[in-house]
Amino acid sequence: MDEVELNRGLAGVLVAETKLSFIDGEEGELIIGGFPLAELAANATYEESVFLLLNDRLPTAAELDEFRADLAARRDIGDEVRAVLRRAATERKPPMDALRMGVAAATLGTDDQSNETAARRVVAVLPTLVATYWRYRAGDEPVAPRADLGHAANYHYMLNGEEPTDAEVRGLETYLNTVIDHGLNASTFTARVVVSTESDVVSAATAAVGTLKGPLHGGAPGPVLDMLREVADGDDPRAYVQAKLDAGERLMGFGHRVYRVRDPRAAVLSAAAKSFYEDSGDTEFFDTVQTFEDVAVELLAEHKPGRRLETNVEFYTAALLHGVGIPKDLFTTTFAVARVGGWIAHCLEQLADNRIIRPRSQYVGEKGRTWVPVEER
Ligand code: ACO
Repeated sequence: MDEVELNRGLAGVLVAETKLSFIDGEEGELIIGGFPLAELAANATYEESVFLLLNDRLPTAAELDEFRADLAARRDIGDEVRAVLRRAATERKPPMDALRMGVAAATLGTDDQSNETAARRVVAVLPTLVATYWRYRAGDEPVAPRADLGHAANYHYMLNGEEPTDAEVRGLETYLNTVIDHGLNASTFTARVVVSTESDVVSAATAAVGTLKGPLHGGAPGPVLDMLREVADGDDPRAYVQAKLDAGERLMGFGHRVYRVRDPRAAVLSAAAKSFYEDSGDTEFFDTVQTFEDVAVELLAEHKPGRRLETNVEFYTAALLHGVGIPKDLFTTTFAVARVGGWIAHCLEQLADNRIIRPRSQYVGEKGRTWVPVEER
């Protein structure tokens, strides 16, 4: 048998070529569809970002109109899917569980023929699934999607039943663009593994939702907001951070496996949050967030002198999504609403040049056992 090196967690192993995103963890650089993150995130609509990932170029005005209209036409879910979400809400299943059930059921009543159309449906329908579940959970009736609203605006509208402000839409859109893709993160890798067996895009998205659910992947921004609120409510930030570090706790929203400098997504989300809070005329919470970052980075440097620990994407996700009115319990599902664009683009990229993803394991078990009949064990 060939000698192969055991690589737990596949760290540093290249398993696919991609044109979708590039990460330089040493320099803190992130490129999405050829654009530096900051260039794309603050300018694009989410529809433009998805089109970019699917086509490796920006759409013309006519193409964008067509793409938007096509996605908007795929937003509805039928009574059967609503029933699944109502049941999930009644049983108070966590939002990511409800989303997984909803995505798995989302093809009921549809006749998507190809992976390309199924991919568009999955992107279009995720906000409806999240918002419908959330409305049931609050004891309200779901709000039907509105085809005249863009993807981000419609998501916000379906959650709250009111049209969002331009500032809320821009903030949410910037978030969705910022986290749309990030190399072969765990959920994206999962999606590629699923389609590499020539399964289908909906199965891939369902598996990816399950992967994103885990706290090591998509679960940190909720706890970040709790922490920020405690400090905003009067705790001294320096004493608060020091107490956490002295207790041996990790500070949520700081550090990253890949980035050795500040996560570039934190910079983009921080700028978006700053402008959102300034436009709203109330910067008190955002001032607390910035003070917290400064104090925490200083104390983390003393705590781990050899390891630069700076804010990661989750820190300013919490600040921005809270500002634009996304409930804390929906931070991870909103991450899925964004990341689904990357999932489906990776699926189609994988299928365009497919080879089944099939690594190997190192056997460390027994060999040569002799069967013992059950009555003799
Ligand atoms: N607070 C305090 N100490 C930390 C933190 C932190 N946020 N992050 C790392 N450290 C410490 C570790 O405990 C470790 O100390 P040790 O050597 O005494 O055990 C040392 O710094 C080195 O840690 P790394 O090896 O660089 O961290 P790793 O790559 O294993 O973990 C991770 C990265 C999981 C993101 C970590 O920094 C962490 O737990 N952060 C807090 C949770 C968080 O914000 N998660 C969201 C990440 S963003 C995303 O995944 C989308």
